[in-house]
Amino acid sequence: MVDLAISRRAVLMGAGAAAAWLASPARALLQAVGKVDVPPFVDSLIGRMTLEEKAGQLQLMASAWGGGAALSLNPPGTGSDFQQQIEDARQGRLTGVFNGNGARMARMLQTAAVRESRLKVPLIFAADIIHGHRTIFPVPLAEVASFEPDLARRTAEAAAFEASGAGIDWTFSPMVDVARDQRWGRGVEGGGEDPLMGRLFAAARVRGFQGADLKSNQHLLACIKHFGAYGAGESGLDYNAVDMSERRLREVYLQPYKAGFDAGALSAMASFNEINGIPSTGNHWLMTDLLRGEWGFQGFVVSDYTGDEEMIAAGYAKDGRDAARLAFLAGVDMSMQSGLYRQFLPDLVRGGEVPEAKLNESVRRVLALKAMLGLFDDPFGRIDEKREAARSMLPQTRALAREAGRKAIVLLKNEGELLPLPRSGKKIALIGPFAAGPHDLVGPWVVYGDDAKAVDLATGVRGAVSNPASITVTQGSGVEEALAGGIDQAVAAARAADIVVLAIGEDSGMSGEAQSRTEIVVPAPQQALAEAVAATGKPVVVVLKHGRALALEGAVANAPAILATWFLGTETGNAIADVLFGAYSPSGRLPASFPWKSGQEPYYYAHKPTGRPNPPGELQPYKAHFRGIPNSARYPFGHGLTYGKIEYNGLALSSQEMPANGSIQVSATIANRGSRAAEEVVQLYIHDRVASITQPVRELKAFRKVALAPGQSEVVRFTLTPADLAFYGLQDRPVVEPGTFDVWIAPSAEAEGVHGSFDLLT
Ligand code: BGC
Repeated sequence: MVDLAISRRAVLMGAGAAAAWLASPARALLQAVGKVDVPPFVDSLIGRMTLEEKAGQLQLMASAWGGGAALSLNPPGTGSDFQQQIEDARQGRLTGVFNGNGARMARMLQTAAVRESRLKVPLIFAADIIHGHRTIFPVPLAEVASFEPDLARRTAEAAAFEASGAGIDWTFSPMVDVARDQRWGRGVEGGGEDPLMGRLFAAARVRGFQGADLKSNQHLLACIKHFGAYGAGESGLDYNAVDMSERRLREVYLQPYKAGFDAGALSAMASFNEINGIPSTGNHWLMTDLLRGEWGFQGFVVSDYTGDEEMIAAGYAKDGRDAARLAFLAGVDMSMQSGLYRQFLPDLVRGGEVPEAKLNESVRRVLALKAMLGLFDDPFGRIDEKREAARSMLPQTRALAREAGRKAIVLLKNEGELLPLPRSGKKIALIGPFAAGPHDLVGPWVVYGDDAKAVDLATGVRGAVSNPASITVTQGSGVEEALAGGIDQAVAAARAADIVVLAIGEDSGMSGEAQSRTEIVVPAPQQALAEAVAATGKPVVVVLKHGRALALEGAVANAPAILATWFLGTETGNAIADVLFGAYSPSGRLPASFPWKSGQEPYYYAHKPTGRPNPPGELQPYKAHFRGIPNSARYPFGHGLTYGKIEYNGLALSSQEMPANGSIQVSATIANRGSRAAEEVVQLYIHDRVASITQPVRELKAFRKVALAPGQSEVVRFTLTPADLAFYGLQDRPVVEPGTFDVWIAPSAEAEGVHGSFDLLT
């Protein structure tokens, strides 16, 4: 647990451990909350502003240029006239725009703001740089499959380099919402189901986007979103209400936001959902008491797209004026897209409903961040049309996209070592709606990426084999509709080939915002295609495209080899071909569990035990499980195979007892008994057997990726301290309680691996 405050009880039990943690450099690092420097000129500037100009600094709008990229991604809102937007900039009625159209547009607007407005306050340009700007990296969820946070730091850094060349100062990223219900469509943008992964990737992405110096024209201001618990909407329905104990909020859902702020993120976005009856956008506890009071956040908070106005439909605000008042007083500094702040804040201040001092505080935060971004020093510092072109899709950026792509691929299954495929001597039928063509490559939540500039599967495969003519391509089916004659053609192609590569799954529109699904399966027409192709008896490699964990069925689940390949971005085809033909041995691990059936959702490995667990093996009556399926995942969090043959042996603990102020070492021997090199993600899980609050069946505490040559073995060691064993206790504080803990070093959250136990002493 990151935010380990030590309770009296914990101190009694382990003062030494607590003191060691409090004094540790690790904690200091974790708590290095981003600092906002307010240059002296900011206050004098605020002193010269009218109420309207102040409210203008708190109003962000979608770019209206030529229809604006933003307006094709979001529902149309106010301010869709670009000339009007220029006029708003001149009048000081606008703090900035988002999802605009490059340096040229930014120059026009910035010129109006800094040359033609009364106070010459520069605009800020924002965009959803979620997984790349022009070079598109794997969707964020896929990147988490790499179990390599530094990879995410590097792709965020590369995305910042491209985007900041195109006049963008601020990204609405990282999205760090924990997603434990795969029906929800937006899990694709985040860090998966596990809070530790969520924390590590949130922090890594913030560091990548922001770098060491926000002023540099190679970096962007990061924005932690969607605060908070947006991923926990009831039944996985987007925008839906969240009702949850504070304990679960803090132990799971709030963790990655906190880690992002601790890594230095200086902006946050309010989420659309309510938490326990209060919309986040109007939630004073969340936005002020917790975020600023307890966590010490100094940056500014922006609403999500019309999130303030949406409190009316949610039944929390009675009209626009009320919504502006509630959002602002809760602690949301800036309004996105509704226009409500500039419309109502001046009058709310005049009427005494909003203190002017509070308005000044929010303006101060925004201006300070603009200064930290270098916008006052050089408002055109990131706006340079030549630099925009010069930084776009450079070979090294594409190479990074390919590296990230192959590291994100998870080998779910590989019976009879069907993979890797030979590069020559076999006829391969590529079948399925995702076999070829410039579509569904860059994936969801891309503003500036282009499928036409991405490598499709067929191109990647043809480039990897010695004779491209040995590859046939057959669509076979639409994504959600059958294709007339498609199955017959696919069956004929399969019969004529030695091996089938079946590229099926979800298209880009099936995950992302507002794309919740009731059945998280391969759509029926593609399932029918899979059944028909499997019936030919040819060996089938399933290459899944998906923005979430799926419940695989029938011939798809039964295929001898299955690769989870998500949406990999610009280098999709090359990255998949690297894995298919063995240029790269798969090393990805699932960041979200694949259930047996959709009806298990929300399914996550770190669930609570019940009083009636079904023991391993046969399903037993009156034990916890759904009819006909085990209470587990088909492919759990952490699962992923390699082309090696990995064995776990020899769990060793440095002691059976962990002193309250000490630590123990846990190790295991990991061997590659196969004939190919492999990278194994070795995972350490714990379970607290008896506690004053019941604890999850397992929790990931550490992992390491190790490279093993054929025949090589390595002793992998982890250190555990009492801080790793803390939970949010009865007194609403993190505590560590003595007792017995199970420990596993294992290849997934549900694999046995090697298992032992130890006691934490008082
Ligand atoms: C999304 C945000 C996004 C914003 C601006 C909203 O619909 O929820 O994640 O940053 O639009 O595009």
